[in-house]
Amino acid sequence: MKKCKAMTDRRKLLENPYRPGAGYRPPHLAGRSVQQDHFRRLLRQGFSTENILVTGLRGMGKTVFLDSLRQISREERWLWVGNDLSESSSLSEERLTLRILTDIAQAFSEVFGGAHGESNADRKEQQEHADNSYTFEVLRAIYERSPGLPSDKLKAVLSKLGSLVTKARLAGIVFAYDEAQCLSDHADSKEFPMSMLIETIASLQRRDGIAPYVLVLSGLPQVFDALTETRAYTERMFHVMNLERLSREETLAAITTPLKPLMPPLVVSKELITKAADLTGGYPYLIQFIGKELIDQLLENGGVLSAQNFPAPEMLDRLDAGLFASRWNRTSDRQRTFLQFIATAHLRDSADFSAHEIVQAGAEAQGFTNAQANQMLQGLCDRGLLYRTRHGRYAFTVPMSEIMIQRRMRRVQDVEESWAVVTDVKPVVGADANIQANGQRRSRGWSWFK
Ligand SMILES: Nc1ncnc2c1ncn2[C@@H]1O[C@H](COP(=O)(O)OP(=O)(O)O)[C@@H](O)[C@H]1O
Ligand SMILES: [Mg+2]
Repeated sequence: MKKCKAMTDRRKLLENPYRPGAGYRPPHLAGRSVQQDHFRRLLRQGFSTENILVTGLRGMGKTVFLDSLRQISREERWLWVGNDLSESSSLSEERLTLRILTDIAQAFSEVFGGAHGESNADRKEQQEHADNSYTFEVLRAIYERSPGLPSDKLKAVLSKLGSLVTKARLAGIVFAYDEAQCLSDHADSKEFPMSMLIETIASLQRRDGIAPYVLVLSGLPQVFDALTETRAYTERMFHVMNLERLSREETLAAITTPLKPLMPPLVVSKELITKAADLTGGYPYLIQFIGKELIDQLLENGGVLSAQNFPAPEMLDRLDAGLFASRWNRTSDRQRTFLQFIATAHLRDSADFSAHEIVQAGAEAQGFTNAQANQMLQGLCDRGLLYRTRHGRYAFTVPMSEIMIQRRMRRVQDVEESWAVVTDVKPVVGADANIQANGQRRSRGWSWFK
């Protein structure tokens, strides 16, 4: 009896370990070790002509992967200078360089403040060396004094950082920028912040006698296209890490590792874990989302749950509201018709599709020619529902989009049907009053106001 009460108390105190949400570090970062090892090897070389481009859809784990690279940099004693470019900081070359100078000053102040030192002696030495040569004002003064374009000025500042790097006993500097698609997507006209950044780093990497630099950019798949358009051969400067869904084994590890310390008091069958893993399809955001739902439902249910009762029917509503709704709300009626067609048509067995395949599958009957289908696909990319794959085909940006589209269209249809009424026929006693004699339905609409 006493034991039973203790169990209930523990369940009450239990905190849900899963972390669905942009940039939230997961309780267990599954997979990605091949890419992490590659990065570590790159830093150990001590010099670099290679840079890293991390791409992947939203929720695929770019931001938390970047955070793991930051950890590796620290272990290898490279300075991590980084930020998120989603704000207006990237709209022009001048603003981007100021952003970078601010980030450098911030990173050095942490080092000289002792945050980087491994031992007390290390920290003490770094603090002794601390001077004010890394502050934003100093860096900006060098920048302003240097002649030329923003890229020349930035180069001038970066080429002077070598002594600071040595003083801090660092191996080099990693510039890491997340949401890099903003560098090209939102740039003002005649501004090329992406080219400026890449050109600056490339030219420093070709020079001897200055601190080694590595550039790490991370963003949506279109960053890759933007990069190849920037300048010929730019893509050769980058090692591309495209973050994909996790494998089944990695997914199971991501779900069970945080679960183990909670069993008991929770009782989770293998069948339930397998079902949860299957529902995620290996998509990192869904692993956290579904893991969290699993724990919540277990707790509501007294710590046990049968696989048949998972997931709760409201789970899809919550997923839809969190991931899909904002994109859907930006579409037109015609785009919705087109999306419904893609979601229900049997388009080969692959996750991506082309305009031609959609038309072939019967979209023409609904008034979509090849040219129109292409136009629709482009419009849906602009609204963030679809993206262009490497091979010039299209795919949904949000997993389970097809299911969510079908649910929404069904709801629209249900509402329409609930308003369909009989017109101009006498109601037949005992018959379904909603169906006309000729089988047609008419929307009641706003007849009260006529
Ligand atoms: N390798 C992983 N294993 C488990 N969960 C992950 C992994 N990568 C990301 N996640 C989870 O997925 C969600 C989205 O991650 P995030 O880094 O914000 O994606 P992105 O930056 O690509 O949009 C977060 O809740 C995060 O905890
Ligand atoms: Mg992110």
